[in-house]
Amino acid sequence: MSCPYQPEGANAISTASATAGTAGTAGTAGSTEQIVRQEGAQLDFSKDMSYGDYLHLDQVLSAQHPLSPEHNEMLFIVQHQTSELWMKLMLHEMQAAVEKLAADQLPESFKMLARVSRIMEQLVHAWDVLATMTPPEYSAIRPYLSNSSGFQSAQYRRIEFMLGNKNAAMLKPHAHRPDLLAEVQAAWRAPSLYDETLRLMARRGIRVPAESLERDWTQPYQAHEGVKAAWLEVYRQPQAHWDLYQMGEELVDLEDAFRLWRFRHVTTVERVIGFKRGTGGTSGVGYLRKMLDVVLFPELWALRTEL
Ligand code: HEM
Repeated sequence: MSCPYQPEGANAISTASATAGTAGTAGTAGSTEQIVRQEGAQLDFSKDMSYGDYLHLDQVLSAQHPLSPEHNEMLFIVQHQTSELWMKLMLHEMQAAVEKLAADQLPESFKMLARVSRIMEQLVHAWDVLATMTPPEYSAIRPYLSNSSGFQSAQYRRIEFMLGNKNAAMLKPHAHRPDLLAEVQAAWRAPSLYDETLRLMARRGIRVPAESLERDWTQPYQAHEGVKAAWLEVYRQPQAHWDLYQMGEELVDLEDAFRLWRFRHVTTVERVIGFKRGTGGTSGVGYLRKMLDVVLFPELWALRTEL
């Protein structure tokens, strides 16, 4: 069959090489059309579920509604939406990982946590795309954003809470949405990934301070010398406590990736808006720099000095 986009001669050459199975025909529409036909791929979806149907792409791809006439707003929207999709998967994996941990199913939990760290790394690299937005490009869309900010991301707050960075003030932005508030509150009230890890260590016979095993989980985690001693017991004899040792390293991996994400966020923000205030009302870079100091699993970092 002739290709509608190519002169007859060119098509004849590429068709001949595709038929002969020779390499070097990539990029010629005639040959790829023939390959698809030879493969016997299904091409009629009038009665079957297609790719787009399965993924609900009509909904996903019609959810980008720039408010400004600016070309660059699409980047801003897609970057945030894709981040939220990855966060959705992170929450899915983290919730299951915590459940597996509580049920002493460590290998399953490790696998999920490894995936969470890789997602976080993916989000770290995603800043490279946003960094192509220049200050004048952002300033042109800034008035259209009003007071909306990632600061109000319900999924991000649930991730922070699941990682132990509890903060009652961060419930407030969701007060007007009972459905989201309920989800954020549930993460705020529940033991974090780290709290569950300490409980696991106690079940395994490691001495963990009682106040770390039963406490008001809505309070942010406070470093404890007794918890450091417990981790030191594990790290000084890895062979005797291999899975707890592996768990410790999974957590460090995760916090490491999370720190990189925070760092790339603040440097990208400085690059794009300098020291202007954020749309969410904070000082902007000043606020984000303070967040760089938050340590999620303090004893796991502190113990390294003593090994
Ligand atoms: C040019 C792009 C961006 C700028 C200028 C920016 C700026 C800021 C600023 C200034 C804050 C502090 C809160 C405020 O006052 O608004 C913030 C917080 C936040 N942003 Fe961004 N941001 C950008 C892109 C993103 C992207 C792509 C995400 C991905 C979801 C994101 C997620 C967040 C989150 C989760 C917070 C809360 C951090 C925390 O409370 O520790 N931001 N952003």
